[in-house]
Amino acid sequence: MRRIAHLSDVHTLDPQTRRSGARYRFATKFVSLGRAIDPKSRARKLARALVAAKASGADHIVITGDLTEMGDATEFEHFANLLDDARIHEDAVTLVPGNHDAYTSGAAWRRALEGPLKRWASASATETGKIVMRGNVAFLPIDTTCFQSLARSGGMFTPEAARAVRARVEDRALRDKTIVLVMHHPPFIHHKNPVAQWIDGLRGCTHVLDMLARHPHVQILHGHLHRVVDRIAELRQNVLGVANRARIFGAPATVDDADDAPRVRLYDIRDGALESVGLFAM
Ligand SMILES: [Fe+2]
Repeated sequence: MRRIAHLSDVHTLDPQTRRSGARYRFATKFVSLGRAIDPKSRARKLARALVAAKASGADHIVITGDLTEMGDATEFEHFANLLDDARIHEDAVTLVPGNHDAYTSGAAWRRALEGPLKRWASASATETGKIVMRGNVAFLPIDTTCFQSLARSGGMFTPEAARAVRARVEDRALRDKTIVLVMHHPPFIHHKNPVAQWIDGLRGCTHVLDMLARHPHVQILHGHLHRVVDRIAELRQNVLGVANRARIFGAPATVDDADDAPRVRLYDIRDGALESVGLFAM
């Protein structure tokens, strides 16, 4: 594998929004934070972003959550149809859910993977500790979502996830692989604002930061922040010899991009690490 394309935060709507119930319309308005409720425009952006991802020469595509606006079954169906229309091999796409994908039900993601997204389940976030091997890259798709009120947007990296992921990361058989955790929420702490951390943060993110500190070959692709992020994880002293390169990467939100030129973020694999090679649009 030489190149990965990363897109995120698609926020697909029910194509029949106008005809959907008042509850759906109210909820989508509330969580859309002022964005236009335009199912066609959002669908166009995803379709074009997938065209760009294919044309970029990427061997694998990662979509880091908020695939839908509400986690509604019709939204997931619509998202799956758009993915299907893009004619990308199902083994070449890794999907993880975001907080929006769990606003309707805590079981929505599982139901989507058993239903409309079944074809893409093999490379996507299912059981904890799952690993998706693609040549020299080991992807670990992680579900950080929890069923919660519309007023919250946080995530959870459970102790169980930490144990399972750590076992993978420490597996000697993967020593020579580029390890990429794929998750919606970034592992950042709102140090100055505990309320923001409670509303929007990733509970248990110290597990992730600790893993990054111990294992310099681990990197993260995330969404949620709707912007490009490049962060250098702090390394412990015993591995300080490793170059201070970015290891936590966020992609812009497809939903926020222009209809005619949604951007995908590209990374090349160099010396076992991800190297950002910029944003690509068509
Ligand atoms: Fe989002």
